[in-house]
Amino acid sequence: MGRLDGKVALITGGSRGIGKAIAVAYAREGAKVFICARKAASLKKAAAEIRAVGGAVRWCAADLSKAREVKRVVRQVVHDYGTIHILVNNASILGPREPITRYPLSAWAEVLKVNLTALFLVTREVLGVMIPQRDGVIVNLSSGVGRIGKARWGAYAAAKFGVEGLTQVVADEVKEWNIRVNAVNPGGARTAMRAQAYPDEEPLTLPTPEEVTPVFVYLAGDESREITGRSFDARDWLKKFN
Ligand SMILES: NC(=O)c1ccc[n+]([C@@H]2O[C@H](COP(=O)([O-])OP(=O)(O)OC[C@H]3O[C@@H](n4cnc5c(N)ncnc54)[C@H](OP(=O)(O)O)[C@@H]3O)[C@@H](O)[C@H]2O)c1
Repeated sequence: MGRLDGKVALITGGSRGIGKAIAVAYAREGAKVFICARKAASLKKAAAEIRAVGGAVRWCAADLSKAREVKRVVRQVVHDYGTIHILVNNASILGPREPITRYPLSAWAEVLKVNLTALFLVTREVLGVMIPQRDGVIVNLSSGVGRIGKARWGAYAAAKFGVEGLTQVVADEVKEWNIRVNAVNPGGARTAMRAQAYPDEEPLTLPTPEEVTPVFVYLAGDESREITGRSFDARDWLKKFN
């Protein structure tokens, strides 16, 4: 018996890094997973890895910063699996590591569009499926710089502060329908984004994406049925519960 048997999970940015690791972890727990990202080739590869652990997986290439593409993805999940029980808003971009005085407006707009507006668009669309069934779980990927701002994190940090705030707003709005919404800071993990942010860092000093997944399984499953509107830190959570 898996902890997510019978559940359908949509994981944005599930083609690599933490999103792919969450998709694999959910599939191992019995969920049917749907992953999306912009590049079809990496989605195809990730889907093969998920199938290799015995999981049911579908995928679809889409740019989630476009409202029309978000609608297409959510329609596809419902077409393929009939519903959505779990949404993980994981897709994100880093943007330039520049101080505000040098931060280009175009990059500012792009990072906010992908890291905050897309999360709003996906959440709004998926709630259209979750509210009528009076059941759902949403987990939003945050960051340490979404709680304490640091130099040269510009729009990325501003967007993640937005993710933390939106998590609380949506959690309060949907609690009457038995829908839970929480945020998780995964902490530094060995991914392409982290290597881009810290090019001089030795990746082997960091946890793998697989190591940060237990909190995501906990929040998606029934063990956390009372928990909503909260912010978790994957590393603290691991220390506390393992
Ligand atoms: N890694 C860390 O140390 C760390 C630390 C704190 C927080 N986080 C957060 O954890 C999450 C995962 O990070 P990661 O390191 O695994 O990142 P990553 O390896 O760069 O993966 C990002 C994923 O998002 C997708 N994506 C980006 N823009 C998209 C768009 N417009 N539409 C659809 N998909 C899009 C990417 O695929 P395509 O490029 O094909 O679209 C990819 O699948 C992010 O929210 C990140 O901010 C990570």
